[in-house]
Amino acid sequence: MKEQLVTKKILKWYDFNKRSLPWRKIVSSQKRQYYTLVSEFMLQQTQVNTVIPYFKRFIKDIPDIRSLSKVQDKKLIKLWEGLGYYSRARNLKKTAQIVIKNFRGKLPDNFENLISLPGIGNYTASAILAIAFNKPYIPLDGNIERVLKRYLYLKKDKEIKKDNLIKKKIIFGVSSRSNDYAQALMELGALICKPISPLCYQCPISNKCESFKKKDFNLTKNIKKNIDKFFLLKVYKKKQRYQLIKNTKFNFLKNLIIFPMEEISDQKNFNQNLNFKMSNMNMNIKIQYLKNSGKFNSSFWVDEKKLDKYILPSFTKKIVKYLERN
Ligand code: ADE
Repeated sequence: MKEQLVTKKILKWYDFNKRSLPWRKIVSSQKRQYYTLVSEFMLQQTQVNTVIPYFKRFIKDIPDIRSLSKVQDKKLIKLWEGLGYYSRARNLKKTAQIVIKNFRGKLPDNFENLISLPGIGNYTASAILAIAFNKPYIPLDGNIERVLKRYLYLKKDKEIKKDNLIKKKIIFGVSSRSNDYAQALMELGALICKPISPLCYQCPISNKCESFKKKDFNLTKNIKKNIDKFFLLKVYKKKQRYQLIKNTKFNFLKNLIIFPMEEISDQKNFNQNLNFKMSNMNMNIKIQYLKNSGKFNSSFWVDEKKLDKYILPSFTKKIVKYLERN
């Protein structure tokens, strides 16, 4: 495979500058597949530095795909606590179960089978194929998108549409070291082609970069509107105990412990007590202190001093903190 100059330069830069990350350790191919699966799930919505300690703990406690398929939900969620987006953890376990049952314990090495698994979309399938199986895929994550947009000076709405970026990424070429190359491009975006103040003088491909030539590094954002939503959250406390529920009602924080709440459509004069951002939803929350306990599905009582014995999402922790202070 003849490598283009740009490919060579990026790989050479990576060899000298890559971060030593726990999922990049040289291990057996079986382990590499497992490490890639777990790390890519964790990295879907979380920054590298946050993921590192979680990944290490996870691999230590659940060392392979078979143990993942059998892990108790309680243990799994505990290991994920603080990373957020818990559906990723549940999908990861489901994926492990399907791999054990339908793929003889081996992570599939083709796109169709990979995207059939829970929690694996186009991006994660491409990342796994490149990183775990050394196949010539380039997963278009936020970092790689930024490099591409700057390198080609893509600014207009139609230029920065996903479909167009997927077409344009061909300029990166291919390498026989696909596993390193996918990560090299991500690394270039993360360490050099940073969102603000890119370090162009250390960049291996700045000589051909259109943004560098024009000295304009501003990026046009793909428009993803934040949605404002309004919730009435019901707090009932008796003898130092809160009434909480297991959430089966909302599509976010599924099956996790929350205070009972309802969504309100009428937001006139909504004097919120606090805000919480979840994905692209901006949650405006007003607290209603109930005089009597409410009748809520799957509700239970928790002593305020024993809250730390429960696995609570950050959302509920923030509410508890607020209640303690007010
Ligand atoms: N983001 C997603 N996957 C990654 C990886 N393997 N290394 C660094 N950042 C990433």
